[in-house]
Amino acid sequence: MKNIVVFASGSGSNFQAIIDSIGKGEIEAQISGLIASRPGIGAIERAISHNIPHYILPDKSSEATFSEVLLSKLKEWNPNLIVLAGFLKKIPSEVIEQYRNKIINIHPSLLPKFGGKGYYGIKVHRAVVDAGETESGCTVHFVNEHYDKGDIIKQTKVVVSDDDTPETLAQKILKEEHKLLPNVIAEILNNN
Ligand code: GAR
Repeated sequence: MKNIVVFASGSGSNFQAIIDSIGKGEIEAQISGLIASRPGIGAIERAISHNIPHYILPDKSSEATFSEVLLSKLKEWNPNLIVLAGFLKKIPSEVIEQYRNKIINIHPSLLPKFGGKGYYGIKVHRAVVDAGETESGCTVHFVNEHYDKGDIIKQTKVVVSDDDTPETLAQKILKEEHKLLPNVIAEILNNN
């Protein structure tokens, strides 16, 4: 059985989409663990209710400790694929090196537009609306040492309407994220 480790910092609706897709037999793998960036986030509740082990990163850990704890958890959970599903911390370079081309991220814009440091969550959608863009969407890409710069795997476009607010746009795109992310995971894991 192949293993997926999910990293999350928020409500975990993308994490849930992966759980549901595995439940429907679309992804041939199991989630061996969740890495949560802080306590109290929705993703942890979802892990508990689905009996998925979770680990909460220590507060204010130095870069060295952060990478040590991550590498030791990853060794235990032995992932074939690591999925960043709304994870807002930078992944240490040791982890990227050790899991090169095995870490993917979902980002709520059509990268390379509206990506990079500072562009996360609602901030992305606010920037898109402020710029008067007529389309936006979501991107799944491989993770390298540079924020949102790894090779793009797949994107879904959505139309930005005149009456869209950052919040309505976020909702529209999140719906597409929930299809795109499981779809890419299945393509990667079911074929290799
Ligand atoms: C998602 O929209 C994801 O694309 C975004 O955070 C949200 C997490 O929602 N990620 C980023 O902005 C990364 N730069 P979720 O916790 O409900 O899955």
